Amino acid sequence: MTRPTRALIDRQALRDNFALAIRSQKGQCMPIVKANAYGHSVDIVCDALAHAPAFGVASINEALELRNLGFKQPILLLEGTFDPDEIELADNNDFWLMVENHNQKDQILKAKPNQPLRIWLGLDSGMHRLGFDALEIKGVYQNLLLSGKIDSMSVLATHFACANDLSNEMTTRQIECFDRASLGIKLTTGHVLQQSLANSAAIMGWEHSLRDWQRPGYMLYGNSPFNANRMAERLKPVMTLQSRIISLRTIDAGETVGYDAIWTAERKSKIATIPIGYGDGYPRRAKNGTPVIVRDQRCPLVGRVSMDMITVDVTDCELARIGDSVTLWGSELLVNEVAQHCETNGYELLSGISVRIPRVARN
Ligand SMILES: Cc1ncc(COP(=O)(O)O)c(C=O)c1O
Repeated sequence: MTRPTRALIDRQALRDNFALAIRSQKGQCMPIVKANAYGHSVDIVCDALAHAPAFGVASINEALELRNLGFKQPILLLEGTFDPDEIELADNNDFWLMVENHNQKDQILKAKPNQPLRIWLGLDSGMHRLGFDALEIKGVYQNLLLSGKIDSMSVLATHFACANDLSNEMTTRQIECFDRASLGIKLTTGHVLQQSLANSAAIMGWEHSLRDWQRPGYMLYGNSPFNANRMAERLKPVMTLQSRIISLRTIDAGETVGYDAIWTAERKSKIATIPIGYGDGYPRRAKNGTPVIVRDQRCPLVGRVSMDMITVDVTDCELARIGDSVTLWGSELLVNEVAQHCETNGYELLSGISVRIPRVARN
């Protein structure tokens, strides 16, 4: 038997989640597939979403990987170029460039592209991570426009800091800032740019932010950026992280389990060992009590997560046997819930699943 740990990727769930994202608005939807499609395998995901009009990634390496896999759609580099050489690659490969600072703008002004570049102009509407500020952006666009280096289909884009909190007024302020910047560009240049604001949380909760292009990531993979949301109930988790019990033992009350002996049995306990650990991306900081499903039953993680294994208390799961299938997360146990036990979010857990875990497509 090979090591039985794997991530099953449900292609139909992915397609259904994408359909849900599209149904909720009028513009176009660009799946965000950076970080190996949030850990799901960019190959499997882009193949399942082959009808998408474009994909979004974080770097030119990720974009080139998609081209090497044979995907033909335009690909947006969400952070733009890191180096001037990348402009030529982008030009030759139909990559779209986020332009979000003066370095990147100057690189484009100096470049000699074969055809005008498609750019997404990044606005800093309040997150203060990337983007031009609202006052300067019209001048930047005018500069690029007059250079003849960009085509007429530019997009004005911004990113939300707190869209996953419906009570946070920052999102409304960011939308207002965006609309002012958009108007400023129109008044200065006479151009009405296409618009893109919404990530998953905005698609699900901020209708006013839905414009020409939406950029869903997390929701495509079947997970909600909110705790509870009407649409969240219709999302289908795409990844099931599975393994099997490889060892079982009974220990007496007072015995400890695993490195540093951080867990002590309070009763005679049956302990199952599962071959997944932090070397696979299952987080070392998962606390004792993190749920794991054995035979349809939630059982608590006990002891420290080690590099290749975890230990689970299956005392209350009388039928547990070596070889039984174990689910670390999936539709019966949402990654968001596991993340709460690890003091992180599901994004980090999913994208952290290492190359050691085979991704197996279903449907
Ligand atoms: C610029 C940008 N757009 C869209 C997304 C997708 O966000 P989400 O996964 O929350 O839908 C991200 C993710 O970090 C992003 O950086």
